[in-house]
Amino acid sequence: MNVRTQVAIVGAGPAGLTLAHLLRLRGIDSVVIENRSREYVEHRIRAGVLEHGTVQLLTEAGLADRLHREGMVHEGVELLFDNEGHRIDFAALTGKSITVYGQHEVVKDLIAAHEGPLHFEVSDVRVNPSSAVVEFVHNGQKQLLQADFIAGCDGFHGVCRPAIADQLTVYEREYPFAWLGILAEAPPSSHELIYAYSPRGFALHSMRSPTVTRNYLQVRPDENLDEWPDERIWSELRARLDRDSGFTLADGPLLEKGVTAMRSFVVAPMQHQKLFLAGDAAHIVPPTGAKGLNLAVADVKVLADALELHYAKGNDAALAAYTETSLRRVWRVQHFSWWMTSMLHLDRDGDPFAHQLQLSQLRYTVTSPAAATSLAENYVGLPLP
Ligand code: FAD
Ligand code: PHB
Repeated sequence: MNVRTQVAIVGAGPAGLTLAHLLRLRGIDSVVIENRSREYVEHRIRAGVLEHGTVQLLTEAGLADRLHREGMVHEGVELLFDNEGHRIDFAALTGKSITVYGQHEVVKDLIAAHEGPLHFEVSDVRVNPSSAVVEFVHNGQKQLLQADFIAGCDGFHGVCRPAIADQLTVYEREYPFAWLGILAEAPPSSHELIYAYSPRGFALHSMRSPTVTRNYLQVRPDENLDEWPDERIWSELRARLDRDSGFTLADGPLLEKGVTAMRSFVVAPMQHQKLFLAGDAAHIVPPTGAKGLNLAVADVKVLADALELHYAKGNDAALAAYTETSLRRVWRVQHFSWWMTSMLHLDRDGDPFAHQLQLSQLRYTVTSPAAATSLAENYVGLPLP
């Protein structure tokens, strides 16, 4: 079967689904294809922090009713080190806040509000960057989608980036640690997120709702989950989140447990011929800055605006500048994510010089209004382009 559309969107994650909405609001047609099931993408547990600008964009696009009802607005975070907690006050330093709302909830809202073709469980996806033709199999039938442009929103393991691999320069950094993450039926033990630098390694106390917490522990990249029975996870979290003034971590049954690798990765350019990459298809950040989802949304805002200029005015300047415009923000976010990661994770080889530098940086960040403001403005997110 042959179908025609203006923009073929590969991947129904935050990038692809948000792009489809932004295009529809601009009067541009799209078809979205996704290789997983709707059930799978709506329950995939990933990021949880939405920047100020992401919330604003979703609100303006009419996608944030439930987000405003159920999301938890936080006006700060805590940095914990040397057994003492220090609050970074976003509201006072930037006038902005963040919202804690699970990525899968954003995805559910985006799918519920979606209009137009959205095909789940497709297979054998092939993209042609020069003709903008996308081939795939759906319900056992081969389909051919002829578009003006292809948006490669298919994440880090998708097919779009490999289709233009010979055009790309790759910038990459791997880290000698990973995060063991748990989702638990337990009420949050703090009003705000706690980022802890401890002699036992990094820990993060986060949440999803008044009854569900999300916690992370720095572990080795090759960590075997069998060595982490639930009781060990809770006792390690307690040890790393401990403080002189006392802290009680509420526990409860685990709903999910997994290990996430830490990587910084960028390709340039983010476009070739009629194919445009957005989100994790083009870049990955380590999760310490809580940026992955937000950066995906920022990319598709740039792309939607550029496509609008193309269709409404026949002006291709913004499309031609897509890589340059997007990479400016990507590299700022890469730096912030690398900086947070380097400041907060323990060097397992025990380099004492590095340890003292990290402590010095943490003390400076929580005592200097200039340094605290720098963390705060990056964390709540710099203005969208
Ligand atoms: P994705 O969400 O990956 O969406 C891409 C979509 O494309 C997927 O639905 C995929 O199934 C689909 N797809 C792939 N290949 C094909 C194909 N061939 N054809 C059709 N569809 C295809 N960020 C944080 O800030 N904090 C976190 O705690 C955090 N935790 C994470 C945990 C994990 C395990 C992972 C993998 C990422 C995590 N991230 C986190 C990063 C964040 O979730 C991503 O940055 C975000 O999902 C990017 O959105 P995206 O739409 O670009 O990509
Ligand atoms: C999360 O709640 O999953 C989360 C929060 C902050 C991060 C990373 C993950 O930096």
